[in-house]
Formats: sequence, structure tokens, C-alpha cells
Amino acid sequence: MLGQENCLCRSPFLLCVFIGFLVHSIVEAEIPLGSKLSVAENDYWVSSNGDFAFRFFNISDQANLFSVGIRFNSKSIPYSQQTVVWVTGAQVPVSNMSYLELTKEGELALFDSLQEAFVWTSETRNRSVVSAALLDNGNLVLMDKEHSIIWQSFDTPFDTLLPGQNLFANYLLRAASKDRKSSYYSLHMNASGHLELHWESSVVYWTSENPSGSNVSAFLTSSGALELRDRSLKPVWSVFGEDHNDSVKYRFLRIDVDGNLRLYSWVESLGLWRSVWQAIENQCKVFATCAKLGVCVFNNTGSADCKCPFEVTRNNECLVPYEQQCESGSNMIAYKNTYLYGIYPPDNSVFSSSLQHCEQLCLNDSQCTAATFSNDGTPQCSIKKTVYVTGYSDPSVNSISFVKRCSGPFAVNPSITKSPPSELPPTLCVPCIIGAATGTFIFFVILQLGIGFFIYRRRSSTREKVTLDFTGPNSKGLFVLSFSEIKSITRDFKNQIGPKMFKGMLPNNHAIVVKDLNASMEERKFRSAVMKMGSISHKNLVKLEGYCCEFDHRFLVYEYAKNGSVDKYIDDSALCRKLTWTKRVEICSSVAKAICYLHSGCREFISHGNLKCENVVLDEKLGAVKVTEFGFAILDGKATYCGFSAEKDVEDFGKLVLTLVTGCRDHDHVELCEWAYKEWMEERVANVVDRRIEGGYNSEELERALRIAFWCLQMDERRRPSMGEVVRVLDGTLSVDPPPPPFAFQIPLQVHDSEENGSELEV
Ligand SMILES: *[C@@H]1O[C@H](CO)[C@@H](O)[C@H](O)[C@H]1NC(C)=O
Ligand SMILES: *[C@@H]1O[C@H](CO)[C@@H](O)[C@H](O)[C@H]1NC(C)=O
Ligand SMILES: *[C@@H]1O[C@H](CO)[C@@H](O)[C@H](O)[C@H]1NC(C)=O
Ligand SMILES: *[C@@H]1O[C@H](CO)[C@@H](O)[C@H](O)[C@H]1NC(C)=O
Ligand SMILES: *[C@@H]1O[C@H](CO)[C@@H](O)[C@H](O)[C@H]1NC(C)=O
Ligand SMILES: *[C@@H]1O[C@H](CO)[C@@H](O)[C@H](O)[C@H]1NC(C)=O
Ligand SMILES: *[C@@H]1O[C@H](CO)[C@@H](O)[C@H](O)[C@H]1NC(C)=O
Ligand SMILES: *[C@@H]1O[C@H](CO)[C@@H](O)[C@H](O)[C@H]1NC(C)=O
Repeated sequence: MLGQENCLCRSPFLLCVFIGFLVHSIVEAEIPLGSKLSVAENDYWVSSNGDFAFRFFNISDQANLFSVGIRFNSKSIPYSQQTVVWVTGAQVPVSNMSYLELTKEGELALFDSLQEAFVWTSETRNRSVVSAALLDNGNLVLMDKEHSIIWQSFDTPFDTLLPGQNLFANYLLRAASKDRKSSYYSLHMNASGHLELHWESSVVYWTSENPSGSNVSAFLTSSGALELRDRSLKPVWSVFGEDHNDSVKYRFLRIDVDGNLRLYSWVESLGLWRSVWQAIENQCKVFATCAKLGVCVFNNTGSADCKCPFEVTRNNECLVPYEQQCESGSNMIAYKNTYLYGIYPPDNSVFSSSLQHCEQLCLNDSQCTAATFSNDGTPQCSIKKTVYVTGYSDPSVNSISFVKRCSGPFAVNPSITKSPPSELPPTLCVPCIIGAATGTFIFFVILQLGIGFFIYRRRSSTREKVTLDFTGPNSKGLFVLSFSEIKSITRDFKNQIGPKMFKGMLPNNHAIVVKDLNASMEERKFRSAVMKMGSISHKNLVKLEGYCCEFDHRFLVYEYAKNGSVDKYIDDSALCRKLTWTKRVEICSSVAKAICYLHSGCREFISHGNLKCENVVLDEKLGAVKVTEFGFAILDGKATYCGFSAEKDVEDFGKLVLTLVTGCRDHDHVELCEWAYKEWMEERVANVVDRRIEGGYNSEELERALRIAFWCLQMDERRRPSMGEVVRVLDGTLSVDPPPPPFAFQIPLQVHDSEENGSELEV
């Protein structure tokens, strides 16, 4: 009996060891259907050689959170060094009464006691699984009667590759993240046979340098070489650990939290894991090593240090000191031997130019925040238009960088008084005032003069506007309209097309929509918000064309979308037929892209705050999908700009997806969601889909849409994905695990205060 159940260890630790010892000679130890592991029992399945164990382990000391996975288990490795090599499921932590079961139906299923639901399964029901086994190489397999492998953990790698495991084309290892908000690193085996290290989805910062080939896979040999092998298992590229060919008992390859790829060996004599190879020697060259903490310096002890040469914000982020309008002009600060790049977004525009020209290019461009000039044969100037700038610095770096900064508030630049009013900023420069207020008397005098000048300028510009009526947008590309002009272009608010929304026509016959915010907002804040919104441009966002800010009136003027909003289509049974399945999927994906852009594509985080069908409009022939009414949130008659969190937008997006899929708009969304989740769980997903859709639906897209919607609708905000992830799931470039029930009881995760503050970027 012991021989048969050797791997199914019950809690007494000694017995386990004893059994493990006894069965040392048994090649494959089978785990029968119906077997269970639980947190409370602390039992585990071991491989017959005792090297690996599949068990629950705590991931956080205080919060009572557990994961289940495969760890090293060898007696020669102390518990704290028994590294986790694979984690079950979506890395969803479970609570202390949870269990994992190999069900009678042949499925591995993880039950979370807090949610009282299965949060992950291997999805192998009805596939004739009769047993499981943890193999000696650390692979957990489910097998049928003939011992054919139906499912294996080696096929869904986590961050680690073990000797004997293949990483096939289009598979990836994903680094564990430092915290929920940090960006992620991953290792891809791509279709043309190269290994690539990625930051987020688009930045590739390391690749294996081998000729292209198809069906190449990555493989770690037991002698300590990382190889790329072709179809005939011939290595086409390899790298060796320092201890290659040495007799080393345990090795693994892992993409670490810091984005570097390392090969580790167990050093018996020292009792630790040692890195014997790493993909990128200088950690500073790993993309975004310092992320929002400044510039990376590789110091003489061989470690990467983050230093902030710019400005440290309240949230302890190191950002470039960018201000859209500097009252007294800008200048450039030079950083020698420093290479800088933007991270949100990561793309810089690159020009060929000289050093001086590069500095001027940035200085002349109002959106430029920093520039780097490098010359290794070809002189290149890269211009950054984001405050999220990072980089590295080292005496050997052949680059010089410039960061733009407002000239001191009191270094009055005489050229300003000479420039025409249209070029002057529309609002007072607040930091200047604060600066001046802390200064001495003489500065107050200057401040007084400044305000006098400001008032004079505003008067003159108002006067000017009367003559400039409708002639064209201001320097920001926005029309600034008076209330009487708003009345005239909407013909006294005759053509109402939505709540507080009116269609209008500019004198140049350009159709627009006027939205009455109908809420109070301080003039200064309103103007600064519309300026920011005016500079946003994305093909799935309705463009802000102008605004009115006079007395208590706050109007926004948007471009007009001919076909109106999506709610109209859903409610009307005739129009509804035009919303085919493909169209609905396209709407979801366009909206996700738009919100993703607002959250992380702009200079600063912008929340939508009011995402719903009414605010998604369709262009002519239902061609383009655009999101409108972003930015402002209205509460109790008061408007705020960006008053909501990213998580709220994500939740609203989940509701929007459910509405589009089900066609139910007026339902209580909690009820709708609970019902849809139940139908989905119980494999009656066809019931969820709007019956009025002509031409049916694509079940793969439906599965993706529902899974991501349920993730977005998680009550526990911290479980919701970022919009970037949503976009990738919808276009099928990121797979998504089955979601836990959205409305289940929340698990108390630890909350770090510093991360919750402010409107920081969600990545
Ligand atoms: C797990 O629990 C042990 C004992 O309570 C503790 O020492 C260890 O730090 C915990 N592990 C983690 C990752 O918090
Ligand atoms: C499980 O966790 C809860 C609170 O998180 C605690 O009250 C309870 O004592 C724990 N149970 C066990 C068996 O550790
Ligand atoms: C699994 O098999 C049972 C009984 O044969 C059947 O009722 C059920 O529909 C099957 N499920 C799937 C997902 O095929
Ligand atoms: C695979 O990676 C290499 C190196 O980064 C790149 O040149 C190639 O285009 C990639 N192939 C695919 C199909 O992505
Ligand atoms: C690559 O492998 C797959 C699956 O083994 C096979 O279907 C495909 O034909 C192979 N491609 C090439 C170019 O050999
Ligand atoms: C390891 O041994 C093999 C075969 O003896 C040899 O070809 C290879 O060069 C050795 N590797 C290193 C890094 O010395
Ligand atoms: C080098 O960097 C490490 C890690 O940031 C730091 O702990 C150490 O003090 C630095 N050493 C020197 C000499 O600056
Ligand atoms: C920057 O602007 C100045 C003044 O308008 C102009 O003389 C100069 O040529 C511009 N430089 C570049 C690189 O555009």
C-alpha cells in the first residue's frame, strides 16, 4: 500500500520522508483520482527521487495567503532555498482552508475556501485522465490508461525552465512582479527561433543572436548549457554556465524579478543557489531597471544603483521637471555620459543631428521633456515627450542628455514682454506664484506687476476675440467660445441629442456636439483641464474641439459622430441587427485601446470616470468607434478632472463588455454579472449571448471577452487587470486564466500606502 501511494503524503513529516526514502527505486509514482492536498494538512506529493514536491506554501506571512505549486524538495536544500519552479493557475492566492483536488473526472482543481469556489482547473474533464504523477524532473503530469500525457505543468511554464523542459515557439516565461503596479518582464521563444527578453509587450531589450529557423525550442541541459534546438534536436545556438560540465546536482533557468535571465546552480558546499550565467551583464542595460526611480548607475561593487538627478515627487517617483508653460522660458540641463529614454510611452522620436541642434530641437518643441544625443558613427538625437524618463549613466557611455527645466521664476526674460499675446499662457503659472510668495518684498512687487500684466493681457485677448470670431482655433488647436457664441452655434440649444448634449454647426459647416457640463468648476482648473484634453489625440477618442468658460458656464465642444451612441443600437431591435458579433468585438477592443491610451499613453494618467454605452459613439457606416466624455467626473454638481481611479474605468469596461455581449442594458449589473458568470461556469455560455445577433458568434472570442470581463468586474479592485492587459487579451496576444467569481468575498491583501496615493500610472 505504501508502495502505491508513495507520493500521496499525509501530514506527519517523518512519514513522508520515510515513504520518500522507501520508494526511491520506484520509477513513476502515480497519484490516483480523488486525491487531495490542503493548506491545513500541509501534505504534499513528491517525485519518486524526492527532488521535487507539489504542495501549498505561504506567499505572505501576515495575510494568510497561499499558492500551490512545485518546489525543490531535496533534503540537501534548506526550506528557505527550496525555490518554487511552478505555480498553479493564475497565481491567484488562496486562503488558509483551501485545497487542491484531483477530481474523479480527472481534473486538477484548486478550491479557495474564502470564495467557496474553484478558482483554477486544468480543464481536463472528460479526457480520460486516470492518474497524476510528479516526475523526477519536476514535471507534474496527468495521464490516461496508456500512460500518455494528457496535461503537464511543463506546458504552462511560469518563470522557470528546468533541465529536460522545452520552451517551444510562441511560449514564454514571465517574471514574477515586484508588486501589483510594476511592469512586467518576459522571455519569449519567438516563431522565427529567437529568444527575446521583453519589457511590457513591445520593448525587446535582449535577443539570442542566432540564424532564424522554424520550430526551434529552448532547452536547458543537465550539464548547464542553454541551447536552442532545431527540429532534429541539433543545437543551433548555446550559452554555457561558468560551471558547465561540472557535476552539479540542481540547475534551473529563471527570468528574475529584475528582468535579467539567469542560469542558477546549487552549490552544495555553500548551501546556496549561484548565478552561473546571465543574459545581460550590466543590469543597468535591462530596460527600465530604475523605472520611475531615476537613472541607473552600475557601481564598482557590481550592482545597479538608482539615482534621481531630476525631481522626486510626493510618491517617491523621479520625474523630469516638466511644465507645459514656463512663464519665463525654459533652459536645458546637460547630463554627461548619460543615456535617457522614455518609458511611458517607451518610444522616442529619433533624428540625425548635431549636439547643439539636438538641444535646440528639444528646446523649441513645447512637448519635448528631454533629449539624448549619441554618436557612435551616426549622430543621433532622440526626443522624449514624457515625464516618465529613465536611463543609465556610466563614464563609458558615449551620450549626452538634456533635460528641460523652467528658467527660474525671477529671471525675467525680456523677450516675453515683446511676444504677441496669443503665445502667452492662458493662465497664471501657479508654481511661479508660490515661489514668489515665499520670496522677499521685491519679488512681491514683481508678482504685482505680473498679475497686472496678466489681467491686461486677458482683457486684450478678449477684446481681440470679438473680431476673431470663429476664424480658427487658438494656439492649442482649441476654439474658445463665448456663451453667446455657444448659443448661436447650437441655435439656442434646439437640437438636443443626449442628456445636456446639443448638436451644433460651426460657421464653416463643421458639425460639432456641445456638452453642457452643468457643474461648477474653478475657471483656472477648468482651463488647465481642457488644455490637457485638447492635446490628446487617439483614433478611438472623440476629439475635443473647443470650450466655453464664461461666468458659470462650462461647455465642451466635441467633434460630431454621425451615427450616435451605442446604447441607441442596443435598445432598438431594428438597429441592433447592425451590431454583428464582429462589430461588438471591435467596439470592445477599440474602447479598450482608447482607455488604455488615457491611462498610460499620455503625458499623465487620465481617468475616464464615466465609461458606458452612451459614451461610445459610432462614426459614419459604423466604421470608427470612439469614446467620448472622458476626463471630467461630476459629483453633486461639482466637476473634477481625473477624479476617478483606473480601477473604476476597468470595472466600467467590464460592464460595457457584458452589455455588448448580452444586449441587456437596463439590468442591475450585479445581477447580470452573477447570472452570466453562473452560465459561463456551468458551460451554458450560449445563453449569455444576445439572441438578436445575426450570424452567430465566435466562441473563442466570446470566451476571451467573458473571461476578461469577469476579471475586470472583480469586487476586489486589486485583482482587476490593467487596461494594457485587457487590450492584449482582446487581441489574443495574452492568454487569460479562468476568472474567480467576481462578487466573492474579498481576500485581505496587504496594502502599501505609498502605492495607493495619487493618480499614478497603472501599468
Ligand atoms: C511563511 O511562513 C513562515 C513561518 O510563519 C515565515 O517565516 C515565512 O517568512 C513566510 N513566508 C513568506 C514568503 O512570507
Ligand atoms: C485562517 O485565517 C483566519 C483569518 O485570516 C484565521 O482567523 C484563522 O485562525 C486561520 N485558520 C487557521 C487554521 O490557520
Ligand atoms: C463530460 O461527460 C459528461 C458525462 O459523460 C457529460 O454529461 C458532459 O457534458 C461532458 N462535459 C464536457 C465538457 O464534455
Ligand atoms: C524574433 O526575434 C528576432 C530577434 O529579436 C526578430 O528579428 C524577429 O523578427 C522575431 N520574429 C518574430 C516572428 O517575431
Ligand atoms: C512545426 O511543428 C509543428 C508541430 O509539431 C508542425 O505542425 C509544423 O509543420 C512544423 N513546422 C515546420 C516548418 O516544420
Ligand atoms: C564540456 O564537455 C564537452 C565534451 O567533453 C566539451 O565539448 C565542451 O567544450 C565542454 N564545455 C566547456 C564549457 O568546457
Ligand atoms: C552599489 O549599489 C548597491 C545597490 O544599490 C548599494 O547597496 C551599494 O552601497 C553601492 N556601492 C557603492 C560603492 O556605491
Ligand atoms: C529654434 O527656434 C529658434 C527661434 O525661433 C530658431 O532660430 C532655431 O532655428 C530653431 N532651432 C531648431 C533646431 O529648430
